[in-house]
Formats: sequence, structure tokens, C-alpha cells
Amino acid sequence: MRTRASPAWLALWPVVALVGLALPRAAALERPAPHASRTSANAETEIPDDHACMRCHPDQTAQWRGSPHQSSYVESTFQAALAREPRAYCRACHAPLSDRGVTVDAEAAALGVACTSCHVRDGMILASTTGTSAAIAPHSFTRSAALDGVDGCAGCHDFPFPDFALRDRPLAMQRTVSEHAASPFAAVSCVACHMPRGDDGRRGHGFVASRDPDLVRAAVDVDAVRVGPTRVKITLRAADVGHAFPTGDLLRRVEVGATTVRSDGEGRAVRRFLARHFGDRVQSSGARLRVEIADDRVPAGGMRVVELDVPEADGHRVRWWVEYQRVAHQRSRDEATAEQDGEISVAGGILEPEPPR
Ligand code: HEC
Ligand code: HEC
Ligand code: HEC
Ligand code: HEC
Ligand code: HEC
Repeated sequence: MRTRASPAWLALWPVVALVGLALPRAAALERPAPHASRTSANAETEIPDDHACMRCHPDQTAQWRGSPHQSSYVESTFQAALAREPRAYCRACHAPLSDRGVTVDAEAAALGVACTSCHVRDGMILASTTGTSAAIAPHSFTRSAALDGVDGCAGCHDFPFPDFALRDRPLAMQRTVSEHAASPFAAVSCVACHMPRGDDGRRGHGFVASRDPDLVRAAVDVDAVRVGPTRVKITLRAADVGHAFPTGDLLRRVEVGATTVRSDGEGRAVRRFLARHFGDRVQSSGARLRVEIADDRVPAGGMRVVELDVPEADGHRVRWWVEYQRVAHQRSRDEATAEQDGEISVAGGILEPEPPR
């Protein structure tokens, strides 16, 4: 039987879109509620606030301080992006402790994604199913697979663009969790790779990924060969990475490039960017919407082969490289003009000219 959507529900859609509550994933925990630790409801259930957690758990706190989670609102790349696209929507994940006001207060900004953002749900402190407290905790807690499984990360690491109400099908802004679910690493939790245990056997809270050269280099095995006088074939095979490489924010990408090396210097560089590539399409409603044209990132458990034609390389050496890049701002549709925030050299080398046949 088909029922008509109720007018009340329809009237709510734009409001829902405005406050930025994206379509909830069936299995995911709800996105952290504003004021997760600072509402009167929490006072009633006597959940300590973030500052109290930190006073009693100095080791986790020291690792979290300065982590991408702690700086998720204050860091400069996010602030620059927010200035270009100021939306209340962004606060749900970058300043989950803020209220629904227009501005984010200094405390919520400084806390970013803090202890209660991950550990407190429905008035309970969540602990991992495998944890063993070193002492008796002065607070109650619930051992929950939702914390150490994928669900604890899903609400923030897999979500659609805020314009989903205008589309037939929402377009993912990030889809790390879906990539992980479809990968050979589906049974390995995010925590297993992103919260390595320290000397004390406890899970690390530093969450460094795209700024950790060792981790980024561990993601792929790369080799390069000449396959013609001017052609170079570069193969990237996914290694210990539980999702596409790169994943996360839409402006993460990998540059694969090569150039001719001659005695008088280097020739013109040829480059390819492995990324999610976007364009515009005009909808029947007249709205201009961003669409994903192609995704040529390295899939988890798979590989990507890039062949480059290097001008004037015949009889000369060729230098090649693979760089992981964090793009700060895609100035135009021309990917080569993007403003960059930082890069990590993943692999590179020199290929000798092919012997004359
Ligand atoms: C991004 C989410 C996230 C944030 C933010 C976070 N934690 Fe955790 N924490 C976890 C997860 C997930 C685990 C469980 C990992 C496992 O053992 O599977 C955990 C484990 C712990 C443990 C048990 C450690 C162990 O290995 O026995 C303590 C204590 C803890 N967190 C305290 C804190 C405190 C204090 C803060 C704030 C400074 C904090 N956490 C911030 C996700 C988070
Ligand atoms: C008054 C001090 C105190 C406060 C406040 C406090 N904790 Fe604890 N907590 C402890 C102690 C002590 C333990 C047991 C020893 C240990 O595991 O570190 C514990 C245990 C835990 C565990 C279980 C570790 C495990 O898996 O066995 C988690 C998770 C945790 N706390 C998180 C938090 C979070 C999140 C907050 C804030 C909402 C918080 N704690 C506030 C003192 C405190
Ligand atoms: C409340 C939302 C929220 C939750 C829950 C959350 N994250 Fe995050 N996470 C963020 C935000 C926002 C950033 C981006 C910070 C920045 O770089 O501006 C981030 C950054 C990261 C990074 C660093 C990415 C990089 O580019 O280096 C890793 C790794 C990460 N998160 C893993 C996890 C894992 C694993 C979990 C689950 C245990 C988790 N997160 C839970 C919001 C969240
Ligand atoms: C098998 C290990 C492994 C698993 C499982 C894993 N990751 Fe990663 N992750 C990596 C490696 C290695 C990198 C660095 C390479 C890269 O940047 O993609 C990384 C990078 C990231 C980044 C930085 C974005 C980027 O690509 O620059 C984020 C965010 C992230 N992971 C989140 C997650 C989340 C959320 C999960 C669970 C759904 C998860 N990861 C599961 C290994 C893993
Ligand atoms: C549903 C959660 C969520 C929402 C909503 C969200 N983000 Fe994010 N954002 C994340 C996560 C998780 C990361 C980390 C992924 C990574 O590092 O690749 C991130 C990373 C970023 C980064 C990269 C930061 C860096 O240091 O490189 C920028 C910039 C950013 N977000 C801007 C925004 C803006 C602007 C909005 C609002 C239009 C927004 N985000 C909305 C979860 C969210």
C-alpha cells in the first residue's frame, strides 16, 4: 500500500536540511548531539564533562591534545573552508559540543571532537568490549561494540553533501565507512589501524593519518617501468589500507607524475591526479548541482595502473614520482591549479632510457 507523505513531514524537510541533520545511516550511532556533555540532561545522569574526563585520564588527554580531532574546528584549513562555505551543517562534526546558535563559543571550538563526542551516548559512558580497567572506575560505564566497532566513527566519517534534499540520490561528501565495508578489511575495525596500542597496552588517541608519512607510505606498494620510448607505466597496489587511498575529505588526492631528465635540465612534467573528480550538472529543477564524474583512487585491496606519455623522453632518463597531497582549495575546475596544504612523497625514482632496438 502506498501512503502519501504527510504535509507536516514535508514542511519539515527544508528545516532538517538547514540544521544539517543528514540522512542517518541505518547502523551508525547518531551524530553527536549538540552539547553532548553540557546539557542539563547530562547533569541529571551525572556524566562528567570533558574537563573532568581529562583530569582523571591524563594519558589519553595528552595524546588527544593537538590531534586532528581536538583541532577539528580551530585549525586553519577548516577555518578557511568554513569562511568560503559558512554553514551550520559543518558544526555537527567539527564542533559537536557547540549549541545551535550561529556562532561557536570558544570552549566548543577549543574542544573540537572531544572525549564525550565519542564516549557518551544516551547518558552512558561507553568503553570498549575488550578493555580492562587498571583500577575501579569511579563512574559507571557500558562495554559497547558501538565504540570500538565501525559505528563509533560512522556518523562523522561517512555522510552526504548537505544538498541531499535537492537530489534523487544523495551524493557522498565522504564515504570512508562504505569503502571499508566493501573492502577485504571489512572485519578489521578502524580502531585496529588508527588507535595503535602504546607500551601500556592502551589504545592511542592521537589519530594522525594524512600527516603521518610512515602511515601514508604503508598504504601502497609502487613500481614503475618504461613500456616504450616515451611511455612510463606506474602501478600502485593497495597494501595495509582499509579503504580507498586516499579516503576522507574530498580534496585528498595522489599525484602521479614524470618528466624527461636531460643534461640541460628537466623537460615538461606530465601529471595525473588520482582522486574523486567533480563537475556540475543542471537539474530539471534548474538547480546547479555538483556531480562526481570519476573516481580513480586506489581501491582497498586493489590496484591502479597509470600510463604516462613523457614528451621527448626517447633516449633520455625519466624521473617519476607519486605524491600524496592535501588540497586546501580547488580554485577552479582545473585540478592542476589547486592550492595545496601539504604533501608526502610516497615513491619515486629514475628510469634509464630503453636500449636502442
Ligand atoms: C574519536 C573518538 C574518540 C575520542 C575523541 C576519544 N576517545 Fe577514548 N576511546 C575511543 C575508542 C574507540 C576506544 C576503544 C578502543 C578499543 O580498545 O577498541 C577508546 C578508549 C578509551 C579508554 C580506554 C583505553 C584502553 O585502551 O583501555 C579511555 C580511558 C579513554 N578512551 C578515554 C578518553 C578520554 C579521556 C578522551 C578525551 C581526552 C577520549 N577518550 C577521546 C574513542 C575516542
Ligand atoms: C574522578 C575521575 C574520573 C572521571 C571524572 C572520569 N574517569 Fe573514566 N575512569 C576513571 C578510572 C580511575 C578508571 C579505571 C582505571 C582506568 O581504566 O583508567 C576509569 C575508566 C574509564 C574507562 C574504561 C576503561 C576500560 O576499558 O576498562 C573509560 C572508557 C573511561 N573511564 C572514560 C571516561 C570518560 C569518557 C570520562 C568523561 C565523560 C571519564 N572517564 C571520567 C576515572 C575517571
Ligand atoms: C564527532 C565526529 C567524529 C567522530 C565520532 C570521529 N571522528 Fe575522526 N575526525 C572528525 C573530524 C571533524 C576530523 C577532521 C579534523 C581535521 O583535520 O580538521 C577527523 C579526523 C580523523 C582522522 C585524521 C584524518 C587525517 O586526515 O589525518 C582520523 C584517522 C580519524 N578521524 C579517525 C576516526 C576514527 C577511527 C573514529 C572512530 C573511533 C573517529 N575518527 C570518530 C570527526 C569525528
Ligand atoms: C587496514 C588498516 C586500516 C583500516 C582498517 C582503516 N584505515 Fe584509515 N587509513 C589507513 C592508512 C594506512 C591511511 C593512510 C593512507 C591514506 O591517507 O589513505 C589511512 C588514512 C585514513 C584517513 C585520512 C584520509 C586520507 O586518506 O588522507 C581517514 C580519515 C581514515 N583513514 C579513517 C578511517 C576510518 C573511519 C576507518 C574505518 C571505517 C578506517 N580508516 C579504517 C589504514 C586503515
Ligand atoms: C558528518 C561530519 C562532517 C560534516 C557535516 C563536515 N565535515 Fe569536514 N570533515 C569531517 C571529517 C571526518 C574530516 C576528516 C577527513 C580527512 O581528514 O580526510 C573532515 C575534514 C575536513 C577538512 C580537511 C581538514 C584538513 O585539515 O585538511 C575540511 C577543510 C573540512 N572538513 C571542511 C568542512 C566544511 C567547510 C564543512 C561544512 C560545509 C564540513 N567540513 C562538514 C567531517 C565532517
